[in-house]
Amino acid sequence: MKPDNAGMPGEEWKLDERKVGRYLDRADEFPHRAEGEAVLLGAARERFVGDKRVELVRHDLAEPLPDLGHFDAVVSSFAIHHLEHERKRSLYGEVFDLLEPAGVFANFEHVASATQRLHAAFFAAIDEPLENADPSDRLLDVWTQLGWLRELGFDDVDCYWKWLEMALLVGVKPGETR
Ligand SMILES: C[S@@+](CC[C@H](N)C(=O)[O-])C[C@H]1O[C@@H](n2cnc3c(N)ncnc32)[C@H](O)[C@@H]1O
Repeated sequence: MKPDNAGMPGEEWKLDERKVGRYLDRADEFPHRAEGEAVLLGAARERFVGDKRVELVRHDLAEPLPDLGHFDAVVSSFAIHHLEHERKRSLYGEVFDLLEPAGVFANFEHVASATQRLHAAFFAAIDEPLENADPSDRLLDVWTQLGWLRELGFDDVDCYWKWLEMALLVGVKPGETR
């Protein structure tokens, strides 16, 4: 029997270690995933190589972000799509607030297809039966998310890379680098 909170976004990931294992076994095999990730990781690796100031903080993204200070870049990979839409938007606002002027937000994300047929085509392309779709996914289209980023004040907002339901959404906080 599933626990009462198993339907909460993110809970299944905490409660089911096999789910994490299955995902990790398959994650690098998804067609084009490595290509999209490389756009993100290539830039991050070059920027932070040898930097010992990196600190790991464990946090449930459904809750407001803790006081983390300010950052030149905020990067997320395939996590925000588990949050309810309202929380996605408020999180984007929190990200804007913690960025330094000219700071970059890059969200490599699982996004919604425009139609059910395209959704089925994505699952076929990654060779995954549709019934294996993650019940904790709260997929949202690219256009809505880009619109939110613009409304929140981000500049240079665009989808910088996309393959079916995998997309790299980017926004830059206006201002000059100090
Ligand atoms: C599809 S996996 C992606 C894992 C990894 N970030 C990657 O890109 O391969 C989804 C991840 O989102 C995380 N996640 C889901 N809900 C979350 C939440 N509310 N707060 C923080 N992380 C969450 C899960 O723990 C899991 O690691």
